[in-house]
Amino acid sequence: MGKEIKKAILPAGGLGTRFLPATKASPKEMLPIVDKPMIQYAVEEARACGIEEFIIITGKYKRAIEDHFDSAFELEESLKKTGKKRLLEEISRLNHINFAYIRQKAAIGLGHAIHCAKPFVKDEPFAVLLSDDIIDPDTLLLHEMINLYNEFNSPILALQQVPVSDINRYGVIEGKKERESVYRIKSLVEKPKAADAPSDMAIIGRYILTPDIFEILEGIGPGKNAEIQLTDALQGLLKKRPIYGYLFKGKRYDAGDKVGYLKATIDLSLKNPQVSEQLKIYLIELAEKIKNNEL
Ligand code: G1P
Repeated sequence: MGKEIKKAILPAGGLGTRFLPATKASPKEMLPIVDKPMIQYAVEEARACGIEEFIIITGKYKRAIEDHFDSAFELEESLKKTGKKRLLEEISRLNHINFAYIRQKAAIGLGHAIHCAKPFVKDEPFAVLLSDDIIDPDTLLLHEMINLYNEFNSPILALQQVPVSDINRYGVIEGKKERESVYRIKSLVEKPKAADAPSDMAIIGRYILTPDIFEILEGIGPGKNAEIQLTDALQGLLKKRPIYGYLFKGKRYDAGDKVGYLKATIDLSLKNPQVSEQLKIYLIELAEKIKNNEL
């Protein structure tokens, strides 16, 4: 069994261009889904799997992320005084977690962002969570991936089957099925054209990686879209050790895309007892209108 996974890297240095103008001066990762910023879902998912330290890779206009995970003394005192216990519990729940922030000086790729975390990760295996991939909080994806890491002592990538029309938005793998939902990866390619894709299995934003990836990241040049790609580094790492994929069959939302973001908002609202009943009534009304071509 390898070392325990205690650290997670959350890259948050991207420009968020798909959500402009909302993301002109505030981070995409702080866009709310129901009542929590996107990035908090990823933090809570990792916490539930025993992750203790978070390394957030930030960039320009990302200060709000640091403020969000900091304690808020005045707000907490005011909630205490007014007896708002539930809200106080909610905002102070993450206060004891360790966050480290590293500023990525230019948004030049996921591989570059991961490499920025090297001084904090040192020689431990770690998780990577891309916070705009929202995973249904009722599933155990990261948990299963950590179990597989413990079994294989190898990097583990989360995979999902995607429609041909979406393939060029993802890293795509070619793999050999080991057993139900587990693939040994033979090759990886970043954002191929559908015609060149080795399969319909895309990498989604959850990875368990080993520290030997850093050395490979140091040796690779720009790849797809002139960015330093994590997928290219993983292809390099394959020459040295096996990498496995875990095919996730649960719900995932690409909240970096407007429609995916809206779907996540609706589905997660329906799981939230404070709003679900009212929202259901509204959605039924809307569905009726849509059916009758009134919208
Ligand atoms: C990144 C990775 C890609 C992966 C995707 C998952 O792309 O480079 O391999 O499939 O995340 O969301 P991005 O979405 O940052 O363009």
